[in-house]
Amino acid sequence: MRLLKNPLIFALDVDSEEEAFKRLKPVIDLVGGVKIGPRLAYRYGSPFIAKVAAQTSVFVDNKYFDIPSTMKSAVKASFDAGATLVTVHAMSGLQALKELAQLEMELNRIRPFKILAVTILTSWEKSSLPENFHSWSIENHVKSLSQLVYQSGIRGLVCSGHELDLISQKDFFKVIPGIRLSSDAGKDEAQDQKRVMTPKQAMKAGAQALVVGRPILESSDPRQTVLEILESCSS
Ligand code: C5P
Repeated sequence: MRLLKNPLIFALDVDSEEEAFKRLKPVIDLVGGVKIGPRLAYRYGSPFIAKVAAQTSVFVDNKYFDIPSTMKSAVKASFDAGATLVTVHAMSGLQALKELAQLEMELNRIRPFKILAVTILTSWEKSSLPENFHSWSIENHVKSLSQLVYQSGIRGLVCSGHELDLISQKDFFKVIPGIRLSSDAGKDEAQDQKRVMTPKQAMKAGAQALVVGRPILESSDPRQTVLEILESCSS
């Protein structure tokens, strides 16, 4: 059993279950997996995650950032609901990440499951970092956090495509959000994302999976857009 059918993870960023299934219908047979974030997870919880997980791999993206025991319980609850991938913040520190790596190993005996550590959000640029982080570039933060994650034993990472070449460890499974369909995506197209890349650029730079939300959700022909993304991933 694989983690994902292919590298494209569709970010199901809508607010109702009805809308979610309406959006899934035309693309579910094509996408590699579906990402469910807090806006659906908190409203509909485990039963909803389980329903989607019966059809495809589910990535629960609640970005846990807490004390180690709470993070482990939250990750386990996501796994029990049917998640194949879950996110935690790399900034939660070495102890939490080490304990999570141990939990991931145990859960993998049941079925394939990966924890992804988020480095620096793709909506951030240097000026959005907290002031006491300003003496370092985004690149340095991502590099340092990815080393911390690697040291913990976790091998899943979320960063922007622009930082892929800074991550030297070959066995990281790197998931890239902030994907836009044209490389010169202007402010309107990039929306709140700041560090964007096209699917082709991100795959060439070494991504193992891409998270794409609004370019599919706002397309007049989502199925065609998904096909185009898949085509550019493999070319
Ligand atoms: O609509 P768009 O393609 O920008 O959606 C990107 C998705 O990826 C959102 O659901 C967002 O929460 C998520 N994400 C992100 N940056 C990260 C981690 C996750 O944009 N670092």
